[in-house]
Formats: sequence, structure tokens, C-alpha cells
Amino acid sequence: MAKYPKGIRKVLHPSKVKAKGIKTNDPNAFLLSSLLKASPQFISGNYLAEKLKMSRVGIWSRIDKLRKTGLLIEACQNRGYRLAGEPNTLVRPLLEAWFKECKLEYPFHLLDRVDSTNSEAERLLASGHRAPFIVLSHQQEKGRGRMGRKWHSPKGGNLYLSIALQPNVELVKFRNFTLWQGVSIGKFLQKHTGVEDLRVKWPNDLLLNNRKLAGMLTEASIDCDQVRSIVFGFGLNINSSIKQFPNDLQNISTSLKEETGMEWRIHELAAKIVRVSIKASKECMKEDSGEKLLQQWEEMDFLKGQKVTIQSGKDQFSGKANGIDASGALILQARNGKRKAVNSGEVSLQK
Ligand code: BTN
Repeated sequence: MAKYPKGIRKVLHPSKVKAKGIKTNDPNAFLLSSLLKASPQFISGNYLAEKLKMSRVGIWSRIDKLRKTGLLIEACQNRGYRLAGEPNTLVRPLLEAWFKECKLEYPFHLLDRVDSTNSEAERLLASGHRAPFIVLSHQQEKGRGRMGRKWHSPKGGNLYLSIALQPNVELVKFRNFTLWQGVSIGKFLQKHTGVEDLRVKWPNDLLLNNRKLAGMLTEASIDCDQVRSIVFGFGLNINSSIKQFPNDLQNISTSLKEETGMEWRIHELAAKIVRVSIKASKECMKEDSGEKLLQQWEEMDFLKGQKVTIQSGKDQFSGKANGIDASGALILQARNGKRKAVNSGEVSLQK
């Protein structure tokens, strides 16, 4: 359970709720959006009853139903209701409220379990669902990473999501897609959580204090050099305890909770990450996107100056990592000063 800030005993004046645009024809959505906007303050039961044209008992009973989904909603005489905490698995009404708060109008599919959210997004695309849409799951049975690796995906505390897009643009416009996602989501997480040592490891890892916090997996369907659809998968360890991860991951993985000592709200993170990701996918298609990426990459580059080896198919390259070029390739500098741009591969640090 991630607790919301406490100690504010005030009732928020209804004029401050600004629930404009939140339709009262969906009472649960209205209740949750109002609770969110008021948080950490209380919102008056009278105000909610008046807006929803319901009795106060009617409001109480709806609040009680919302509590059964796992939300912690405090009730206090003369003050009303306050959202005080949320569970560590996603709850549809609260996620809807956060999507509204973030002005996201894309449909999302929230599953209890799935093989992989990327696979589910691909199946939905194949069966004619129009993108953009988002797939989220409480757990994944076959969560996958790059190069055929597994992505450990237990239930509770982590985020597993995939965003499906149908950009219909030339492939070249999407060549930096994952790198844009990495710097954009990485910067957002730095700002949101206050962590400093968050870095992007080319091409698809987010590391916090040298341990893996999140991974990205972009899968595209390409037709005559046009990107027909893209599925961007993102896994983020939020409130999980790394002690419960398999032994081989314990020394190399981390979570936001492990590093900050506090629990984070997964609904807010999910909605805000989707917002950042959609913005990044638009940024990466712009004319000057390569140059813009270089500036941002520089600040977040985990490999900069490190001696690395890259396994790229059957080839192996070694040298000092020296940033990326505008096409997103990693630049390696050999001992003799020669530079080589490597487009893809598996990077390991030299001991
Ligand atoms: C990697 O580090 O190699 C990439 C990991 C990507 C994991 C995410 S979790 C959501 C989505 N569904 C998957 O099966 N994989 C991605």
C-alpha cells in the first residue's frame, strides 16, 4: 500500500476542485477525480452529493465500493472524504482518474495476468484494434527483454506496460525511438522522484546507482520501409523488494523503493510515463530530432568514457564509449584513436 501525504485536516473548497470536464454521468470516475484533485485534503461529502445528485448515503456506499478495490479512502465527520493510500497493483477506476488528470484520451487494457504485454498489444493490433492504445498487466508469465532474455515480472509493486502506435512513417524517422524514450522517461523519473544517479545505458536500460531499474523493448512491424506499427514495452521496478528477485538478479537489479526508501504511487507513475512516452515518440519524428537527442543523451549517458565490448551478431568490437551519433549508433574509440559507430549489439563493461 502506497500511502498518500497525511496530516492535512482541511476540507478543500469546492471551487478549488475544478472538476470541470469530468462528467458526472460516470459517478465513480467523478468521485475519484475529485478525490485526486483534493488530495491530500478532504473533499466534502455534501459537495459530492450535490454534484452527483445523490444522497450522502449514496455517496458513502459508492465510496465503500471503491474501498473494496483496495483504495484507502478516509471518511471524517464534518470534513468528508480523503484519498489516503492506494494498493500496489493497478486499480482500473484510479488509473482512469490519473489518465484523465494527465489528459490522456487513449484506451487502455488492464489485465490481471498475461504472457507479455508486448505480445498482447501485437495480438490486439492483429485483430484490428486501432492504435494508440496501452496494455498493462499486474504480472507477466513470459515477460521478455532484448536478445531473448526474460523480464522478471511478479505481481505487485512493479509496472509492466506496452504502448501500441501506428505511425505510418518511414523507418528512418523512428531510428532513435528507444533512445528518445530512455532519455525522456529517465529525465521524468529523476524529476519525479528526486533521484540523481539515474542513467541510460545504450540502448535500452535505465540504471539507478549502477543497477537496472527499468528496461525497454521496442518491436516494430515494417512494410516497404514504412513503420506500420510499433509496440513499446516498458518494465519498471517500483515498490518491489529486490530480495524477492531471483538470485542472479539480486546484485544487478533495483527498484525505486530500494533506492529511495519510500513507496511510490504506481497509478500516477503509469499515467505520467505514458504521457512522457507519447510525447517522446512525437519528438523523435521531428526534423532536428537527432541533434536534440545528442544534447540530452550526453547528460544521461551511463557508458560515457567506459571501456566496453559490444557483441553485434558474430562481430565483437572493443573500445572506449564516446557517446552516440545523430543516428543513435554508439561511438567507440579504439586505442589508436579510430572511431567506430556501432548500430546494435549487447554491451558489456570491460573489467
Ligand atoms: C530489456 O531490458 O531487455 C527489456 C525489458 C522490457 C520489459 C518490458 S515489461 C513490459 C513489456 N512486456 C514485455 O514482455 N517486455 C516489456
